[in-house]
Parts: sequence; structure tokens; C-alpha cells
Amino acid sequence: MKYDFPVTLTKNPKQKPESKGLRFGTVMTDHMFIMDYTDEKGWHNGRIEPYAPISLDPAAVVFHYGQEMFEGLKAYETAEGRVQLFRPDMNAKRTNNTNDRLCIPPMDEELFVEAVKAIVRVDKDWIPKGEGTALYIRPFIIATEPFLGVRRATEYKFMIILSPVGPYFVNGLAPTKMYVEDEYVRAVKGGTGEAKCGGNYAASLKAQEIAHEKGYEQILWLDGIHRKYIEEIGAANAFFVIGDEVVTSELNGSILPGITRNSIIALCKHKGYKVSERKISIDELEEAYRAGQLKEMFASGTAAIVSPVGELLYKGEKMVINNNEIGPIAQEMYDTIYGIQTGKIEDFMGWTVPVE
Ligand code: PLP
Ligand code: COI
Repeated sequence: MKYDFPVTLTKNPKQKPESKGLRFGTVMTDHMFIMDYTDEKGWHNGRIEPYAPISLDPAAVVFHYGQEMFEGLKAYETAEGRVQLFRPDMNAKRTNNTNDRLCIPPMDEELFVEAVKAIVRVDKDWIPKGEGTALYIRPFIIATEPFLGVRRATEYKFMIILSPVGPYFVNGLAPTKMYVEDEYVRAVKGGTGEAKCGGNYAASLKAQEIAHEKGYEQILWLDGIHRKYIEEIGAANAFFVIGDEVVTSELNGSILPGITRNSIIALCKHKGYKVSERKISIDELEEAYRAGQLKEMFASGTAAIVSPVGELLYKGEKMVINNNEIGPIAQEMYDTIYGIQTGKIEDFMGWTVPVE
């Protein structure tokens, strides 16, 4: 094997949670993957250890200037007991795109995927079984060099932690309510919107708090310049069905290029649907809504899977979509994507990767 990571097993295995009623991201498994980086040695010393707090110098760059990135993917167990990942090569590629934007050293993509497989192998008994559940995999990199000047750090840690999860949106496949944000912005072209880094999420919290106070679960972000074009959702990409067109915002430099988004576009093409990546303005959505043409809206993401949206609030006007029920395309995309991921349907797109 090209990569052989030493494993130290925990002496105190934790109780695994029931699959039923699992929330997102509250329980961590027994082990974690850690690897170090220095400018002298590059990425080295990849290893698996018992899950535990880590110790860092208070001057570590990540605490002061936020030089960090993260990824998200999932492991699934099929009815036959096969453990598999969904398109992990895409996460490896996106890691390097994010790293490049944040001046974090690149990582060999095969090393990334092998590290993910290695930690999943050790904690595979934590993969939950219920509908909508999976083992969420959170790789991340932090700048650990103790230094208070502003420049790229010379030392980093790459870690992977695992969490058995249920659906990201508490109500699962029941439609959620989204608040169209027209004051705060998430990202602009030239910023870090298309990178997967913590700063994007820290900057989104204020708007999300306000939306929660108003009874809305997530934000639908508009572009930062015109406050007019749909960008994406707080933790997912956005899809609309307008008339007979399935449409999502084009990748414009400020939107995260979601792997689920990419998969839905490919599936729609495969099924012969009219699918477009283009600019969508909030005015167009309102017009389509008034004309009865806004048939569906759904969120797509690793955590969110495919989640229908039943209501949008924009400048005090409510748009109730598809009677607040899941629409046929959202249902079909959920069934197909989650079906492929969990092996319930044949992987006709060649997307799953076994964890041997
Ligand atoms: N957009 C944002 C802001 C996200 O946090 C996520 C989640 O990862 C996505 C989109 C969807 O990306 P993916 O489908 O790769 O999980
Ligand atoms: C994911 O879907 O993997 C994400 O990273 C969403 C996360 C921000 C909860």
C-alpha cells in the first residue's frame, strides 16, 4: 500500500447512538486522523489516534487570522454490508482549490482519499442505518504556526473527524422555510465564496440569527453587488423548477461549487430534463411565482442531501412553493442520489468508491 497510517486504538470506546432521531453533527466517533505539515518536511506523519482534544499554541495563526479550510463528505453502508464513499475525488480536488485560495499548501489528492478511507475503515461500525442517515466525514486543515504577523503559516495540521448524522434540516424531507437576505452578503467574486473555509460561515451567522428569530431555518443569499441574483443557501446550493426548466445559479466565483449540485445537474441531463446553470434574479422568481410557474425549490448538499423548500420570504412577501409539499423532481433527485449513495439503486453514474 502506498500510504500506511499507524493506528492507535482507543482504550475507552464510546457508546454508539441509536440511528433513530440522530441529529446533525452532535456525536463524534472514537478515532481521528491527524497529519502534520512543515515547510521542511511537507505533509508527513499521517496517523490515526483516539478522538481527543488537541493542544495548540495560543499564537497559532488559525486563531487570529482564520487560515483554515474544511471539507464534507459521507460514508454509507449498503444492505450487503459494503462501505462506500460518494465522489471523494471531488472533495480532494476542491480541497486543493480552497488551499490555493487560502495559501495553504496543496495535498496529494490520492493521499486525501486514502486518509479518508483509512479513518472510515477504523470507525466503520459507527455508520448509522436509518433513512437519511450516514457517517459524516469532516476533513479540515488549520494553520498551527505560532506567529502574530500576517502571512501564510509555515506549519499546519490536517485532521479528519467523523460523526454519525441524520438529516441536516431537522424536519428531514419536510419542506423548510428560507429567508431571502437583502442586507448582509455572504461573498463577492474575488473573495472566498467559492472556497470552503470557516470565515465564510462566521460571516453568515449574523444574518442566520436574524432569520431564525423570524422563524426561518436558513438564508437564501443574494449576490453582493446588485443584491438581486440568487447565490446559494447557508449550507447548500439552491435549485428551482421554473416551468419545465430545472435551474441553479451559475458558478460565478462567489458560490461554492457543490458536489451534490454537480451530481444533480448530471442526473438531470442523464434523464433528459431541461437543466440550466445561469443567473436567476429574485425578480424572476417573484414573477414566476405570481404566474404559477415556480413549481419547486430545493437545497442540495452533502449534509442537506436534497431538501425541499416550502417557503421564501423576501422583503416581507411570502412565496409558498408547491403547497409546502415536496415536489416530484426534488423527490426523484433525493431518491436517486441517496439511493446510489446507499447502494439501494445501481450506481449507473460510477460515483461510489468502496472502502475496501
Ligand atoms: N454551499 C455551501 C455554502 C455549503 O456549505 C455546502 C455544503 O457543503 C454546499 C454549497 C454544498 O456542497 P456539497 O454538495 O459539495 O456538499
Ligand atoms: C456539507 O454539506 O458538507 C457542509 O459542509 C455543510 C456544513 C456547513 C454543515
